[in-house]
Amino acid sequence: MKIAVGSDHAGYDMKAAILEVLTGAGHEVLDLGSADATTSVDYPDFGEAVGRAVVDGRADAGIAICGTGIGISIAANKVPGVRAALVHDVTTARLAREHNHANVLCLGARMIGLTVAADAVAAWLDTAPGEGRHLGRIEKLRALDERAHH
Ligand code: RB5
Repeated sequence: MKIAVGSDHAGYDMKAAILEVLTGAGHEVLDLGSADATTSVDYPDFGEAVGRAVVDGRADAGIAICGTGIGISIAANKVPGVRAALVHDVTTARLAREHNHANVLCLGARMIGLTVAADAVAAWLDTAPGEGRHLGRIEKLRALDERAHH
């Protein structure tokens, strides 16, 4: 898979670790910044960048990281077509994929450790989107996007 990854300064170190995990697992990555951990930048810019890369088809999925994961998930979710999920562990990551078809995974670098984050990413990538009752709900999310932009 091709995975877009972006973070603000607070998420930079976790982004670097996740990029290594992804390339080690044979994925192609699109690193959308930020460029270092010391320059203060704004999470909305990076959440938007990851979201747009996924919706434009430049990536199959995205990972967005800030201090809590909250700000960057709010930003990514404002891009129509994005289903960004802030997750904290393997279980929330799995369910984000199974129930919510999350196409952007958000992580809080100041909230969880690197091993938990890497395991969450692996669980999310290994889980298939659920069918059945979930499909109608995903369709309702799509319809919400449509109503919001007309
Ligand atoms: C940056 O200080 C911090 O506000 C940001 O990384 C994130 O936690 C916002 O939701």
